[in-house]
Parts: sequence; C-alpha cells; structure tokens
Amino acid sequence: MDASTGIANLEAEAAVAAYLEQHETKGLLRFITCGSVDDGKSTLIGRLLHDTKRLFDDQLAALESDSRRHGTQNGEIDYALLVDGLSAEREQGITIDVAYRFFSTDKRKFIVADCPGHEQYTRNMATGASTADVAVVLVDARKGLLTQTRRHSYIVSLLGIRHVLLAVNKMDLVGYDQAVFDTIVAGYRELAAQLGIDHVQAVPLSALKGDNLIERSAATSWYDGPSVLEYLETVEPSRDEAGLGFRLPVQWVNRPNQDFRGFAGTIVAGSVKPGDAVVALPSGRRSQVARIVVANGDLERAAAGQAVTLTLTDELDISRGDVIAGAGQPPELSDQFAAHLLWMGEQPLLPGRPYWLKIGTRTVGATVTEIKHKVDVNTQDKLAAKHLELNEVALCNLHLDQPIPFEAYRDNRALGGFILIDRLSNATAAAGTLEFALRRAGNIHWQHVDVDKAARSTSKGQVARCVWFTGLSGSGKSTIANLVDKRLHAMGRHAFVLDGDNVRHGLNKDLGFTDEDRVENIRRVAEVARLMTEAGLIVLVSFISPFRAERRMARELFGDGEFIEAFVDTPLDVAEQRDIKGLYAKARAGKIPNFTGIDSPYEPPETAELVLDTVAESAEALAERVIRRLLD
Ligand code: ADX
Repeated sequence: MDASTGIANLEAEAAVAAYLEQHETKGLLRFITCGSVDDGKSTLIGRLLHDTKRLFDDQLAALESDSRRHGTQNGEIDYALLVDGLSAEREQGITIDVAYRFFSTDKRKFIVADCPGHEQYTRNMATGASTADVAVVLVDARKGLLTQTRRHSYIVSLLGIRHVLLAVNKMDLVGYDQAVFDTIVAGYRELAAQLGIDHVQAVPLSALKGDNLIERSAATSWYDGPSVLEYLETVEPSRDEAGLGFRLPVQWVNRPNQDFRGFAGTIVAGSVKPGDAVVALPSGRRSQVARIVVANGDLERAAAGQAVTLTLTDELDISRGDVIAGAGQPPELSDQFAAHLLWMGEQPLLPGRPYWLKIGTRTVGATVTEIKHKVDVNTQDKLAAKHLELNEVALCNLHLDQPIPFEAYRDNRALGGFILIDRLSNATAAAGTLEFALRRAGNIHWQHVDVDKAARSTSKGQVARCVWFTGLSGSGKSTIANLVDKRLHAMGRHAFVLDGDNVRHGLNKDLGFTDEDRVENIRRVAEVARLMTEAGLIVLVSFISPFRAERRMARELFGDGEFIEAFVDTPLDVAEQRDIKGLYAKARAGKIPNFTGIDSPYEPPETAELVLDTVAESAEALAERVIRRLLD
C-alpha cells in the first residue's frame, strides 16, 4: 500500500488536484466510509455516485451488463459492482485497497475514501481516515454494533475524525422499526463518548431501496433528521487548525536569481499578510513577510489550504522542512515524544531500531525507545508488548535525532501526523500521531571536553577505529579478533575486544536472544564502542549482530573511514560441524530457542569492508589482513 506524505496517498493526490480544479468554487468535504460489503457499504457509495448523476454513460452501460453477469440483485443494477473496482475483488466479494472517488452536487464537492473493513486492512483504513473530515460508519440494522464497528470507530478517532454519520442500513429488512434504530443509536453514542467522537448523526437507511439516502423517506415518518446526502452537504466539520496561528511548512526554496528568495509551500493553519511578524523554526530567527507570491501575481492575504511563496524582509537561512510561523504563537520544538503508531510494515517494529520519520516536509532519524502499551483495536484494551506487528496500534516513546517544530495531532494534523520509513527498503513502516512532547531529556546539553579524540589517539601513536566482526555463532569472529588484539598489543598499539559472550555477562546480562533484545544488545555495544574510539582506542567488536539495520546504525555512529565491517564468512554447515561450544547440537535438539541460523535469521552484509573466508584461509592469515587494513 502506498501510504506516504502526510499519510496521504500520493497517486490519488494527483487525481484529487485535477478534480479540485474543475470545481474550484464549491466547498470540499472529504469523508471515509467504514463497514464491510455485507453492511452495504459499496451499495451506498455506488448509489451516491449514481444518484448525484456523476456517472458517465459508458460506465453505466458497463454496469448494467456486469450486473447481469455478477450481480446479486436479480438482474437489477448492482451498485456494489460500481465500487468494487478490480475483477479479482469482485470474485472474492471484498474490496481490498483504499479507493478515492469523487462526486459533486450543487452545494459541495466530495472525495470519498473507500477502505476495506477487515482487520488485516486496518492500515488501509488509517490511510483513508488520515485526510478525512467525516466518517460514515455503516451498521446492518439486523446485526447492530459489531466488533468491527468498534474497531472502525477507534481507528477513526485515532486519526482525529470528530464527526461520524452512523448509517443504520437495511432498515427495510427490520420493517423500518424505530425501536431497532433507537437501540443501535443509544449503544453507539456510548461508544462514541468513550472514544472522544464529539458529533454523531444517526440516519435510518436503506441504501438498496434509497430510503433516506438522497431524499428523506416516507417509510421512516418517525425520523426527522437529514438524509445521508443532506448531512454530507451541510455538515461543518470543526477545523482544529482554525484556532492556531499561521504555519507554513517549507516545501522548497525558490531562488531563480540573486534578487529573489522565496519559500514555497502550502499553508496548513492560520493566515498571513505582508508585514506580519514571523519566526523560522527550528532556528528561531525572526523576520517579516515582504510579499505573498502566487502564479498570477501578489496576494494581500493568504490562508490555510493555499499554496504560496513567501518572501521575507531579512535574509534568513531557511531550508526545506523548516516551518515559518506567526511570531505570536509559534509551535514548540522537541526531539522526544509520546506518539501513537499504527504499524504498516511487513517487518515488525523493534524498539531501538532506527527509522526515518517524515513529518510535513521534514525527514529526520527516529527510534522508538519504548512501547508503553499496545492497543487491541477491537476492544481498546491496553496490552504489554515488546514489538509491533502489521496493523497493530501502540502508544510509544519516540526519540528523534534532532528537534522538530510540531503540534499535537489533535490540534494540527499537518504538524502532528507523521510516517516512519524503513531505512533499508524505503517502505512506509508506520503511520503515527504525536500526542505530546516528553520534557525529561530537554535539559541535557553536550559538555565540551578539551582533550578530544584526535589528541587522545595521537598520544597513543595510532588512529582510533572500530573493527566490527559479524557472522554466525562459531564462525570464528572471536578467534580472529583475539589474534588481531594480540598483534596490536605486541606492536604497542592500544586496542580492546568487546565480545558478545563477555558483554552479555555484565552490561547486557538483562538481554536474551529475541529480535528485540538483539537490537538493544547491538545498540548498547555500538555506543560503548563509540565511546572507546573517543578515548583513542582501536575497538574490536565481536558480536553476531545478525541484522543489517543495526549494523548500519552502528556504522552511522562513527566518522568516515572509522568503521570497518568485517564479515566472518563461514557457512552454517561449517560452523555447525565445528560446533566449538556444542550449541548447535543443543539448538537442533530444540533446547535453545531463537538460535541464529537455525530458527533466527542472519542477514549477511552486502557492503562489508572486509570479507573473511574462514574456509579458504587460516585465522592467522585473516588476522593479518585485518591488521593491514587497520594500519592503512
Ligand atoms: S547477537 O545476535 O545479539 O549479536 P551475541 O554476539 O551478543 O549475539 O551473542 C552470541 C553468543 O551467545 C553466541 O556466540 C553463543 O555463544 C551465545 N548464544 C546463546 N544463545 C544463543 C542464540 N539463541 N543465538 C545465538 N547465540 C546464542
């Protein structure tokens, strides 16, 4: 799935832009539909599109013939077919991705995000909900509130939607009974209150027959509220951004020549006019707005939603990802947050593993330092968790490698909604919402020390480096590291071996061999290795370190050329044959769970500085190669 910038769907954005241009002057409402095919979701959308006359004639002709072939409505038009686009889905009878559809009436234009309802598509639903103002939650009148109703409503509330239209569908099948409707609505109001959904409008509906869809129906004379379309045409979703000052995340710096320097982007909150005092973040530098430039001239004023280029009265150093804000009430800066994450990656989230975090137009490095609790999306129960799997939601502590300007997601989606990106595959790993900044680390500064790494290594007559030996258990890492250490010692150099087995007796004795513990194991030893190079030492790290992501994290702690990755390349069968510690035999007998190479993965390096083949060469010869590389 393509959940990208601002959790929106980029491909869809292009289509959205074209559509918006056609209907420039009318107001826009974005909404999401939640429910399953059984609830009549596709019928509802299909009928809305059809009855508002946005259907093209050829599509209609195709629909009629399709209805005869696949339809479940005895040859009458099956509106669900209109929406369940792909033929593969039709055969399965389910919808499988986020589809954006457009229609308009005299009063408004609409963008509908239509997402599948099953739990395994929670990530798709979150993607659709992230840009919607209103959610239409469908319930089958015969079944009432189901687990999935609760799940959908939770995701809707998590993504900041405050307005729900509860569509109690299939009223024709319960004889348009008001008592049935009232019971369902009362139950839903309770749920909405728990979830913080402030505005609920319930409509008794038959999407199939058209009751209360476009027009109010005579069959529900006891109901005096709006039809679904009337509601969608008139609802005024409160925009939380309204109360905020001016905010413009800078998308690019427009500098066609020496005389013009403009900052381009879309205003996400507030408004601006020439002369306004502004502040650039994170630098905190102040200036005033000189001009607001758009394609066909200058503006006297611009507001949220408009794409503009600002020029300032001072030469400020502002780059992509910075935020220009009204000087009166600018957003705060922080690098530590409590945040909700909805995991979208195929690989699980492991605390301590580095990801990219993209928020607005800014990308920074981020790690989850702690999973506070996982949330069962069906019941909202809080559960303990060490990692997160696809479609799971959790409240986490997040640490960024630099402070960013931000706002809580509930106040400002643009400056509080983010995605995490896997550093190796570049795939979207999570969608997240910033809840609040954690203050605790805010008052820690770097203490300057006068004797630096260069001075310390020079006095030892060497260049500080880290050789990182990685490979299977029993591959020969420690043997080679030990030989290198002895040689260096004999040469009067200052080296130190950090060996997995040894460090696990002390500093890391609280860690086992689950994936998450291995990530933490490597994070800690990488930090220790870095401190030792700061002390001017040559550090020899000998850890299995099975994951590419953490070896890369370790590498990034060091300067250019300082980190030498040495892959001790011994095939599993050879390591197992040698079985120096007798661990492979035990692992094969099922006595050691999560054993690397047996039931826990090893990801070989793709770009190691040294590949040490222990089958082709002796440990002494390989140690010699390491020494040569070190003394280069
Ligand atoms: S790492 O994967 O987290 O980098 P580390 O190098 O610290 O592992 O520790 C590996 C050593 O722990 C092995 O050489 C072996 O002696 C021992 N060991 C015990 N259980 C396991 C296991 N399940 N998988 C791998 N090594 C294990």
